[in-house]
Amino acid sequence: MTMDASGFTKKLVGIVSIGLLCAPPARAQRTAVEAEHGMVVSVYDVASQVGADVLKKGGNAVDAAVATGLALAVVYPYAGNIGGGGFMMIHLADGRDVAIDYRETAPAAASHDMYLGKNGKPLPRGPGSSTQGWSASGVPGSVAGFALALEKYGSHKFAWAELVEPARRLAADGHVVTAFNASRLLVRNETLAPYADSKRIFLKDGALRKAGEIFSQPELAATLARLQKDGPREFYEGETARLIADGMAKNGGTITLADLKNYRAVERTPLHGTYRGYDVVTMPPPSSGGVLVLEMLAMLEPFDLAKLGPNSSAKYHLLAEVMRRAFRGRAIYFGDPDFVKVPVAGLLDRGYLATLMKNFDPAKATPSTALPDLAPAGWDAAAPKAAAAQSQDTTHFSIVDAAGNAVANTYTLNGGFGSGVTIPGTGILMNNEMDDFTAKPGSPNFFGLVQGEANAVAPGRRPLSSMTPTFVFKDRRLFLVTGAPGGGSIPNGVLQVIVNVIDHDMPVGFAVEAPRIHHQWLPDGIGYEPYGLSVDVVEALRGRGHILEMRNTYGPEKKVPLSEYYPNDTMTIMIDPKTNLRLGAADPRKPDAKAVGY
Ligand code: DON
Repeated sequence: MTMDASGFTKKLVGIVSIGLLCAPPARAQRTAVEAEHGMVVSVYDVASQVGADVLKKGGNAVDAAVATGLALAVVYPYAGNIGGGGFMMIHLADGRDVAIDYRETAPAAASHDMYLGKNGKPLPRGPGSSTQGWSASGVPGSVAGFALALEKYGSHKFAWAELVEPARRLAADGHVVTAFNASRLLVRNETLAPYADSKRIFLKDGALRKAGEIFSQPELAATLARLQKDGPREFYEGETARLIADGMAKNGGTITLADLKNYRAVERTPLHGTYRGYDVVTMPPPSSGGVLVLEMLAMLEPFDLAKLGPNSSAKYHLLAEVMRRAFRGRAIYFGDPDFVKVPVAGLLDRGYLATLMKNFDPAKATPSTALPDLAPAGWDAAAPKAAAAQSQDTTHFSIVDAAGNAVANTYTLNGGFGSGVTIPGTGILMNNEMDDFTAKPGSPNFFGLVQGEANAVAPGRRPLSSMTPTFVFKDRRLFLVTGAPGGGSIPNGVLQVIVNVIDHDMPVGFAVEAPRIHHQWLPDGIGYEPYGLSVDVVEALRGRGHILEMRNTYGPEKKVPLSEYYPNDTMTIMIDPKTNLRLGAADPRKPDAKAVGY
């Protein structure tokens, strides 16, 4: 799918006309929830409560993260998961920071061109594609990631089985379907309907699940009970592994018992950067997100954003120009650091970033195609000719405990309800993370992201991610815990929360709720949230040469009614430096989100 400026504009006309039919949604500012000891902010109230209960009983942030993460796999099947993977950043009260990488890996049978059809183009959504069905999944990492985090950084006051229990109970006894979850099932009907177990479990064989009804998941409860009894390796070597491998073998999938047995979550060294005296600690590759946020902050630092104001056209212009420059690099230089050399230091070099900003013009947009081909130090391959091409689901939760330990966890099935496949006999929904690889250099993926050869499919590799769980420190003390879903828009969401707090001095609730923009180099245009920019700001940006599109999401879902859905929710906690209170800001872009503290 390529889209030039006129394609973008045509789509814009369509989207705006949908928008005119909808009443503007209320944008009430929710104040942050204050708590003295611990705080959990997640996309789903029940899961936040599960984590807060663990904290209250003396568990630390990592214990609570495991319980919350598993509970979300039951009550928020859209993105919460044990069939996917993600990243957990951990800050320990003694000052250490750790990054747990439990990203999915490509199965041994994966190959460079596996998602190309006979015509050499990426296969359309459906059997054999990277976006849907049995061959779209990477080997899931969530259970291994939670287990590693717990073993090394948990309080050891709780056994693994105890932390699995709230999720098992929710699966066995059922939870109340919310209006939002019911709407997600409706929107993603086509993802789930082709797979018998998904259709039966999630769509009630086509009758659909209605808001208010009780949804129990006995197969998932039984899987969680096995994990309680036999421990987390059961997922990779026990009956659950056998069921996954059997289902795959019978349906032309790629994951085998050996793939599951070989899966390992790993620890990585977090990235560290500074912004106006604050320290920012974030996720390294295989996520691009942390590098992008640090690059963008460094490009912004020479400018007086406070003076530009939070919502001026000058400020949005600057943001968009910084985003476009960082995202060009994403398309070229990033891949799994265990397989390719990612020039992280070169990309973060202030001199390199200053050169990237040399042609920044406050009065005029720089077309994406006019950005100079400047390679960072440490990059020795030729830049691929990333074709000028166009170019959802994930969830993030943040936790702080009484002692000052914290977790920023973002994990995903990639698309909403992942590949659509539920493994028979397990209740486990599988990811479609293989779409985060480059199916073909220069061809956009589901999020419209153009990627390069450095992120090609290969056995055992982790696909490039944008997930950006992040900590910000003020005077070396933990200040912000944040992160978001939203594919390529994730780093930009995190960036804007940080800028809102540091430059615009916004209270955390406002910082989270303030409208955000998105630019990802290609397609060359600014996406802005419904009613997020005033008409005169839009016009002023157009006057600088930007193409603008009001959109409710950054993936192909943008046809969803504008009033219904906003991605890129940033579940954030601020620790008030004066009072030490934990201020939990649940992003109202997700209606079931809740900050629960004590
Ligand atoms: O890892 C990534 O960057 C993507 N798989 C994330 C997908 C996502 O955020 C979808 N959410 N809205």
